[in-house]
Amino acid sequence: MIEVKHIKKSFDGRTVIEDISCVMKAGQCNLIIGASGSGKTVLQKCIVGLFEPDEGEILYDGQNFTAMKGNEKTQIRKEIGMLFQGSALFDSLNVQENVMFPLSMFTNDSFRKKLDRVNEVLERVNLQGVNRKFPSELSGGMKKRVALARAIVLNPKYLFCDEPNSGLDPQTSLVIDKLIQEITVEFNMTTVVNTHDMNSLMEIGNYILYMYKGHKEWEGNNKEIIFSKNERLNNFIFASDFLQDAKAMRMLEETGQIPDHRNFPLDPEKGPDPKPGSA
Ligand SMILES: Nc1ncnc2c1ncn2[C@@H]1O[C@H](COP(=O)(O)OP(=O)(O)O)[C@@H](O)[C@H]1O
Ligand SMILES: [Mg+2]
Repeated sequence: MIEVKHIKKSFDGRTVIEDISCVMKAGQCNLIIGASGSGKTVLQKCIVGLFEPDEGEILYDGQNFTAMKGNEKTQIRKEIGMLFQGSALFDSLNVQENVMFPLSMFTNDSFRKKLDRVNEVLERVNLQGVNRKFPSELSGGMKKRVALARAIVLNPKYLFCDEPNSGLDPQTSLVIDKLIQEITVEFNMTTVVNTHDMNSLMEIGNYILYMYKGHKEWEGNNKEIIFSKNERLNNFIFASDFLQDAKAMRMLEETGQIPDHRNFPLDPEKGPDPKPGSA
């Protein structure tokens, strides 16, 4: 669990994070959402200690990270895995070397032991047998999976992902989201994901913090978001008329006023709307 308490951050007198507090639980995906420039990346960097907040505290499983000295912080950092925006793989290293990098940095394990661990995590992200390929030979989705394997190779308790779906098509995005969620549950990690991907919210949003111009505008989960009356949130998430309609439909379904459409899967062979008398 990560507790964020009254975090503030300014750059050159301009407030970028304004008094943010939240609780991010283990074993679930905690999403930070908001428009571009709303402060998601700065908040995530404050939480992991890449930026020092001007005010406030960050607690990792009850331990006050903000008050820690250098070597104590290093202990917590070893338990943090990060999936950077754009994957940030080393282009001159192959997949195996990329994933092994943190093991070589932080452990004294033998090559054999490191290789076993690399193969274990590559298998976990469904990428067995690509050890010798270079990043330039991989698709966007495969690069993300290699980056995810590298992020979890040290068995972190906390996983941070900044826009894991940027540059991916919607279907590949869903695969990555599902993988992040499965791994989160399997290893009981506290996972923090920055995103502005609408699909991610609905699929993996166990906890959602919506930021608006540096402050917390709304928090809740992917069920509650359907019912939210927050206008800024609704304008951001359900931006199009189509999505406004979809939200209205889901609200009616959730409250039992109309049957849940998911109980009536469409038959792709027949099409959605057979003409009367055509059967
Ligand atoms: N290192 C920095 N120095 C000064 N301003 C910054 C720095 N990093 C981010 N900002 C500013 O903070 C605001 C929030 O940025 P960011 O957290 O990257 O937004 P998001 O990730 O939501 O798109 C932006 O206005 C950005 O220009
Ligand atoms: Mg960002």
